[in-house]
Amino acid sequence: MMRVCFVCLGNICRSPTAEAVFQKMVEDRGLSDQYEIDSAGTASYHEGELADARSREAAARRGYRILSRSRPFEPQDFGRFDWVLAMDMDNLRALRTMAPTKAAGERVRLLRSFDPTAQKDAVVPDPYYGGPRGFDEVIDICERACRGLLSTLSPESAKP
Ligand code: 4NP
Repeated sequence: MMRVCFVCLGNICRSPTAEAVFQKMVEDRGLSDQYEIDSAGTASYHEGELADARSREAAARRGYRILSRSRPFEPQDFGRFDWVLAMDMDNLRALRTMAPTKAAGERVRLLRSFDPTAQKDAVVPDPYYGGPRGFDEVIDICERACRGLLSTLSPESAKP
């Protein structure tokens, strides 16, 4: 069993999108019994809320269903997950600061480090204050990065 958690700031835009994209990829490859997938935020101000309607609608147009509710990432989550995928540098820093051990901090990575088209230290840009195109761009990025992540974690099942 591989346990992964996607993390952004509010857990209402980027990380729920990554979670839904990765979930579908895993399902489509028949790997659901091998993965536990979740998302969380470094901030708790949207705790309990459904994902942003703009994220849910953009995802639905592309065949994804975002059902998660926002929750804050907690220190105990380092014990629950093998890999913690941060959307940007602020998330990465906050998570590494929270990590109980150096080894736990090393299991936090930028999601886009698995995007084969991305430069080093590329991030998933926050779409919250931007226009509608930003939500589609988040999905594009999550599709590339999640495909790279899955082929790293399950190399035998990699498909184009
Ligand atoms: P997320 O986007 O981190 O991708 O969920 C944001 C959601 C809410 C806020 C900022 C970013 N906010 O400031 O409330």
